[in-house]
Amino acid sequence: MPGLFSNTFGKQPQTQPMQTATAETVMQSDVFIAFRDFVYKQSGIYFTEAKKYLLEGKIAKRLLALKMTRFDEYLRHVQSSQGRAELPALYEAITINETYFFRSEPQFDAMTSVLLPEIIASKRAAGMPPAVKIWSAASSTGEEAYTMAILLNEKIKPQFPNVKFTIVGTDINNAVLESARNGIYRDYAIRNVPALWLKKYFNRDTDRYHLSDDIKRQVTFTNLNLFDAAAMRIMNNFDLIFCCNVLIYFDVASKQKVVSSLHAALNKNSYLFIGYSESLHGISKDFKLIHLPKAMVYKKE
Ligand SMILES: C[S@@+](CC[C@H](N)C(=O)[O-])C[C@H]1O[C@@H](n2cnc3c(N)ncnc32)[C@H](O)[C@@H]1O
Repeated sequence: MPGLFSNTFGKQPQTQPMQTATAETVMQSDVFIAFRDFVYKQSGIYFTEAKKYLLEGKIAKRLLALKMTRFDEYLRHVQSSQGRAELPALYEAITINETYFFRSEPQFDAMTSVLLPEIIASKRAAGMPPAVKIWSAASSTGEEAYTMAILLNEKIKPQFPNVKFTIVGTDINNAVLESARNGIYRDYAIRNVPALWLKKYFNRDTDRYHLSDDIKRQVTFTNLNLFDAAAMRIMNNFDLIFCCNVLIYFDVASKQKVVSSLHAALNKNSYLFIGYSESLHGISKDFKLIHLPKAMVYKKE
């Protein structure tokens, strides 16, 4: 059966206007379920029925970009071995990347005033090398990781000049990682940066703020799917992980899988921050919840 707009019946008479195929805008239920399951299996991100409209809107843009007209055609493409190259574009389309500098101030305060001094002291007491590794897991465009680098410069390195710090930012979305490496931001991203540090660490052009090369050099960004347990195994010996505002996109089973990988990536006596609206209740019993004056943190003992 030819498609609605296919031209298999021969040449159109010149008098009739040519019809152009328009892309679908509504996804059939069975296609949505197949899409949802595929995205879930690849990334842990779970689209509930209520979020169907979001998935439709985002995938519709990929249909246009690839000059496809049907959602099921796109699904078959991305599932096929030739279509694997489309996966990064799919992740770029479906992830939500909102972030900004100094987003979770109480957590950053806890990091500089309590956790890092304690981590460094306990490494010294154990005769371990003076090195600290920090990970911004699901870093998006880099604001969280760069906030850490600014705070280390301002508050930690002067106190601990002999300690080597490593900061790694990872995300599933290549476009946000590229933007993180460029380090160019707009008003929204920098609105919480204290004025003094804005002046010190950013160069302003008309409407953009360029982060200083010195801070950019202190963070390495790389692609990593938190749901890919094999890839996660290369992440280890971390002293502090921020995995904020990403678990909300996962269901219980994928949260458990990701949190178990994060646990394995941490050293003993090290810490995990998650977002304010997130909790490990019912997800993991491997951490001890520690109440600090203004923030809560999960400790691997
Ligand atoms: C809302 S942003 C959070 C950014 C930052 N952590 C913060 O709290 O401001 C969520 C990020 O998680 C990333 N993400 C979603 N699923 C992921 C996965 N399976 N693996 C790695 N990153 C993922 C998205 O690409 C997005 O950049």
